[in-house]
Amino acid sequence: MPVNPYAFHIKTFGCQMNAHDSDWLCRSLENRGFFQAPFAEAGLYIINTCSVRDKPEQKVYSELGRIARHAKVNRREGVSVAVGGCVAQQVGPGLVGRFPQVRLIFGTDGIARAPEALSRLAEEPRLRLSLLEFTEGYEEREAPARTGRAPAAAFVNIMQGCDNFCTYCIVPYVRGRQKSRDPEEILAECRALLENGCREITLLGQNVNSYGQDTHGRGVGFAELLGRILALPELLRLRFVTPHPKDIDPRVIAAFGTYEALAPRLHLPLQSGSDRILKKMGRRYDTARYMDIVRDLRAARSDITLTTDIIVGFPGETEEDFAATMRLMDEVGFVHSFSFVYSDRPMAKAGMLPDKVDRIVALERLSRLQNAQNMVSDQVLAQQVGRVETILVESAGKRPVVLPDSVEKIAEAVAEPEVEYVQGRTPHGYIVNVALPVPAGAGSGFWAGKAVPVLIRAAGKHSLVGTQAGEPCWISQS
Ligand code: SAH
Ligand code: SF4
Ligand code: F3S
Repeated sequence: MPVNPYAFHIKTFGCQMNAHDSDWLCRSLENRGFFQAPFAEAGLYIINTCSVRDKPEQKVYSELGRIARHAKVNRREGVSVAVGGCVAQQVGPGLVGRFPQVRLIFGTDGIARAPEALSRLAEEPRLRLSLLEFTEGYEEREAPARTGRAPAAAFVNIMQGCDNFCTYCIVPYVRGRQKSRDPEEILAECRALLENGCREITLLGQNVNSYGQDTHGRGVGFAELLGRILALPELLRLRFVTPHPKDIDPRVIAAFGTYEALAPRLHLPLQSGSDRILKKMGRRYDTARYMDIVRDLRAARSDITLTTDIIVGFPGETEEDFAATMRLMDEVGFVHSFSFVYSDRPMAKAGMLPDKVDRIVALERLSRLQNAQNMVSDQVLAQQVGRVETILVESAGKRPVVLPDSVEKIAEAVAEPEVEYVQGRTPHGYIVNVALPVPAGAGSGFWAGKAVPVLIRAAGKHSLVGTQAGEPCWISQS
């Protein structure tokens, strides 16, 4: 049976930049007459890929295999596949040879022109296209019209690419050289979001601290950019990811103490607690420098919470190196961490280093590290119980069914029938599920974008449960 070439299904791997790219692509395609469809019914499959470790790369091939099998078994004629993002940039046209349904390959800069290319493919069934060139500067993308309000919490790109070449990392090769976006364009996008109901913005880049310090910079550094965005009156919260410790500007650290709207949670990738390994990784800071930053951040804002990324089993990592990582993590007390076993990546220099760590040894270290982290994370969540925190309501939440015996059941606390289960984040980034009363006739979505004080009643594995405390405060100029 022939398929509808405008019915698309998208699957995204990788970081927030990829997730944000996919979100933009969906909106842009919808503006062009495409519509989202379930996997079984799509005529066009889009895979936005990640290449940072071997595992997400392999997942792309299994996804392509799944699509090919589905098309064959169900005789879906004319199914097309578009592969975009970091694996597409890395592997390029090789993907077409292996998977004949692939008709578009778009790289990390090429995504800007992907909607136009996909429209052409839908009209010309024999066409194949590739968009793999890196652009000279940060290419502005079309701004698709929005149906309805902007999300309460949104992402804004401030740059593309990376110039750091940490020895384990493929990102500079697949995202290209660092290209800062024009500050006026960033501010215009932030303003447009805020005018449309958005309240929280997360700035995105592979190394936001070096914003403006490339040939495309306009004399505005990251500290100035933060200051200008924080001056926007309707902004409730600002976050940013990812800052590289080596480039952090003292003014950015100080900003945590000056601006209430700069959320007191920072993701500061450490990667290793061993100076010897940090050096081999080419990170260009040592543990003493990292700890100085932590101290300064806490001096600026005593309640700031920190999260991090760790790689275990980097070539040459000994048990002592690993013990140093565990000690440093204990010293900092990260509330959360993302940890990975080192994975050789094409083009990345560390692939050539001797003394590869045995995979079993690396996995065992990873599990020790994650167990220790889980204990801290659980403790931190438990400590939130009893506090009153303002959450920004983002989306529909989970119905919290069972709470620990010592805590009143939420169902009893919200016995009224007209309640909406919503999810939001505290300034420190903890997710809270809460049931809120909906005024008669208001309908669902009433609470999205509102800041609501909640009393934290219980802690789950990854999130909290709260009940409304006091009156909501509307953040609006009107
Ligand atoms: N720009 C960010 C990192 C982006 S990649 C930064 O500098 O922090 C996200 C994380 O993936 C990295 O922080 C690192 O912990 C992990 N990572 C990157 N390359 C890896 C590799 N080859 N093997 C294992 N983990 C890796
Ligand atoms: Fe990769 Fe390092 Fe750039 Fe982060 S800073 S993207 S880890 S090269
Ligand atoms: Fe992955 Fe590319 Fe992001 S490699 S982590 S999707 S920049």
